[in-house]
Amino acid sequence: MIAVIGPTGNVGRGIVELLRNKRMSVRALTRNPGMRPEEGLEVAVTDFHDRAATAAAMQNVEAMFIMAPVAVLAEQTTAVVAVARQHGVRRLVLLSSLCAEQPPNNAPTLQHQMAEEIVRESGCEWTILRGGQFMSNTLRWAASIRSARQVRPYVRNDPSAIIDPLDISAVAVEALRCSTHRAKTYGLTGAEELTPEQCTKILSERLGIRLDYVELSDEEAERAYVQLFGDTAEVREKLRALRASADLPWQKRRPTVSDILGRSPRRFAQWVDVNATAFR
Ligand SMILES: NC(=O)c1ccc[n+]([C@@H]2O[C@H](COP(=O)([O-])OP(=O)(O)OC[C@H]3O[C@@H](n4cnc5c(N)ncnc54)[C@H](OP(=O)(O)O)[C@@H]3O)[C@@H](O)[C@H]2O)c1
Repeated sequence: MIAVIGPTGNVGRGIVELLRNKRMSVRALTRNPGMRPEEGLEVAVTDFHDRAATAAAMQNVEAMFIMAPVAVLAEQTTAVVAVARQHGVRRLVLLSSLCAEQPPNNAPTLQHQMAEEIVRESGCEWTILRGGQFMSNTLRWAASIRSARQVRPYVRNDPSAIIDPLDISAVAVEALRCSTHRAKTYGLTGAEELTPEQCTKILSERLGIRLDYVELSDEEAERAYVQLFGDTAEVREKLRALRASADLPWQKRRPTVSDILGRSPRRFAQWVDVNATAFR
């Protein structure tokens, strides 16, 4: 049995689908009471503060995919790994971020570095997947695309080797299924280095609508960012760090996805075609 945390999320959803296609037994560990079991898919509804429910969800689990929103990543990973060890889960695959390659001077970096350390010290087999920026982050532009045909990114107009979360799912499936990837930390990016402005052009072409790219001032970007993620010092700090740095670990493409999957990473245009309705 393979357990997947975050089965409704950008990466977890793809893992569940790929494992079911391979006819493997999957258990979705979700906080969402509305998620329903299907053929080949068990559902365990658990809040990860509830140790007894989390323990029950780990019966007969051989391998587990671990992720959490960044604000609770270290805390939740600690809780989940403790229960996993106790219940003999053999293999752990953690979704981390390429921000873990940066110096530990901001909260998201620290959260990812702490979670990685917990998994490495777990005594289980482990694989760490450090994702670059997800293509799905562009869904944050959907509201202004629908209302004003505008893209108003809060980040600088620098290139980034954005990755389709489904490629991370595919790598996670490989790591969950066999020991070849144990004790490996992989940095995962897409194959194209695209600026937000170039992404806007691709969106415009694939959606068949004219879109304007609007560059925001620091103040406008901060207003948009706290509206999305909440007005806390941590959130403001994260945006300032993002906008201040010119050399970020997710900007340059890496060969890891091709090396592991034996195919090229999916392109942004493909991702847009699959997700077009979200922008209409
Ligand atoms: N977005 C990026 O560009 C990026 C880049 C690199 C790494 N990452 C990593 O990927 C993670 C997820 O990123 P995402 O932005 O794409 O989010 P997302 O996949 O939409 O994540 C939401 C998922 O988190 C699950 N979850 C698990 N524990 C949770 C909790 N305590 N509270 C709320 N939700 C919880 C939810 O599952 P249920 O509702 O089913 O429980 C939901 O499916 C980040 O935290 C980060 O570590 C993201």
